[in-house]
Amino acid sequence: MPLLLAISFLRCSLTVTSCSCLTAPMAAALILGWWLVAASWAQQLPRPSLSLHPNQGVSLGDNVTLRCHLPHPAAWVRLYQYQNATYIEQKDNVQDMAEFSLAGIKQVDAVRYQCQYQGLEPAGTSEKSHPVELLVTDHRYPPPGISLIPREYVKMETNITIQCWNQQYGGTIFLHKDGHSAPIQHQEPNGGGTATFTLFGVTPADSGTYRCSYRVGGSYLLSSPLGDNVTLEVIPRPAPPGDNVGPSRNLVAAVSGGCAAAIVIIIVLTVSFLLVAQRRRMQTDERPGATSRSPEAVQFQVSTGDSEGLTYAQLQAVTPSTHPRGSSTTPEPPIIYAEVGTRGPR
Ligand SMILES: *[C@@H]1O[C@H](CO)[C@@H](O)[C@H](O)[C@H]1NC(C)=O
Ligand SMILES: *[C@@H]1O[C@H](CO)[C@@H](O)[C@H](O)[C@H]1NC(C)=O
Ligand SMILES: *[C@@H]1O[C@H](CO)[C@@H](O)[C@H](O)[C@H]1NC(C)=O
Ligand SMILES: *[C@@H]1O[C@H](CO)[C@@H](O)[C@H](O)[C@H]1NC(C)=O
Repeated sequence: MPLLLAISFLRCSLTVTSCSCLTAPMAAALILGWWLVAASWAQQLPRPSLSLHPNQGVSLGDNVTLRCHLPHPAAWVRLYQYQNATYIEQKDNVQDMAEFSLAGIKQVDAVRYQCQYQGLEPAGTSEKSHPVELLVTDHRYPPPGISLIPREYVKMETNITIQCWNQQYGGTIFLHKDGHSAPIQHQEPNGGGTATFTLFGVTPADSGTYRCSYRVGGSYLLSSPLGDNVTLEVIPRPAPPGDNVGPSRNLVAAVSGGCAAAIVIIIVLTVSFLLVAQRRRMQTDERPGATSRSPEAVQFQVSTGDSEGLTYAQLQAVTPSTHPRGSSTTPEPPIIYAEVGTRGPR
C-alpha cells in the first residue's frame, strides 16, 4: 500500500494543473490496501509470554526453567535465543503452557530468549514473545566495593552519594536496593573503575540497604556477585509543635489562599469598573450631545509629574472633520479634547 500511495503522489505531482488521481481510483486503492494489511495482521496470532524460573540470582551451573504461556492451543511451541533463527527446542501439541529446562547453565546460555507457537484453532504462526533475559552470576568475578557519603544517619533533604568500584573489570555498575527486584540505578564506571550514584534530597523512603554489582563487559548477560551492603537511615524531620493536624492545616491554607486570590480579583475588577465609569461620566460631561464618532485624539505620554503632583503637557489643536465635505458653515474654533490622568505625588 505505501507503494500505491507513493505512485499516486508521484502522478499527482506530475499533473500540475489538476490532481485528478485523488479521486475514486485512489480511494479504492486506499481501502484495498488497508483491508489487505488488516487481513495479514489477523492471520498473525497473538504473541505468547515467556517467563523464567527462578528469575533472579541464577549462577553458573544452576538449572533454570523457561515457561511459554499460550493464548491458544498449539501444534508446536519453540524456544529461541534472541535474534537467532535456529530454535533450541520444540514441544508438540501443547494446550496452554510449554516448559523448557536448561540444566547446568553455562556462560553461553546467559542470553535473551523468546518463544513462538503454531496455532491449531485458529491456524497460523504467532509473533515471537517479548525477549526474556537470563542474567547469570559468575562468581569468578570479585564483588564490587561500596561506600556511603556522608554517613549512615542523615537528615531529610540531604544529598547522598554512594560510590561503587569494580577494580577496572569494566562493564556497567548497578545499584540495588534490598526489596526491589530490579536495580534502581546504573552507570558506566569512570577511568578508575568507580561509579558515583547520587540520591538527591533523600526522604525516609530512601532508608534501606544498598549494594552494587557490575555486568561483565561482552555479549553475554554475566554479572558479578552482589557486593557488601551499606545501610542508609534518613531521620524524619521532627514535627513542629501543634502540627498534629497536618492535612486539615493544609486544607485551611489552601482555602484561605483561594479566598485571598478571589478577594484580590474582586478588588481589581471593582476598581477598574469604577475607573471606567468615572471616565465615561467625565467624557459625557465635557461633550454634551456629542456624536458617537469622536475626532482623532492626539496621544501623548507624560513621564513624570512635578513635585506638586501636577502634570503639564503641550497639546496640539485638531480640527474635527465631522462636517460633510462642501458644506458652507463658518469654521468653528478648534476644540481641544484631552484626557488628563491625575496622580498624587509619590
Ligand atoms: C539440575 O538438573 C539435573 C538433572 O537435569 C540434576 O541432576 C541436578 O541435580 C540439578 N541441579 C541443581 C543444582 O538443581
Ligand atoms: C543459535 O541458536 C542455536 C541453537 O541454540 C545455537 O546452536 C547457535 O550457536 C546460535 N547461534 C548464535 C550465532 O548464537
Ligand atoms: C543537592 O543537589 C542539588 C542539585 O545538585 C543542589 O541544587 C542542592 O543544593 C543540593 N543540596 C544540598 C543540601 O547540598
Ligand atoms: C550488611 O553487611 C553486614 C556486614 O558488613 C552484615 O552483618 C549485615 O547482616 C548485612 N545486612 C544485610 C541487610 O544484609
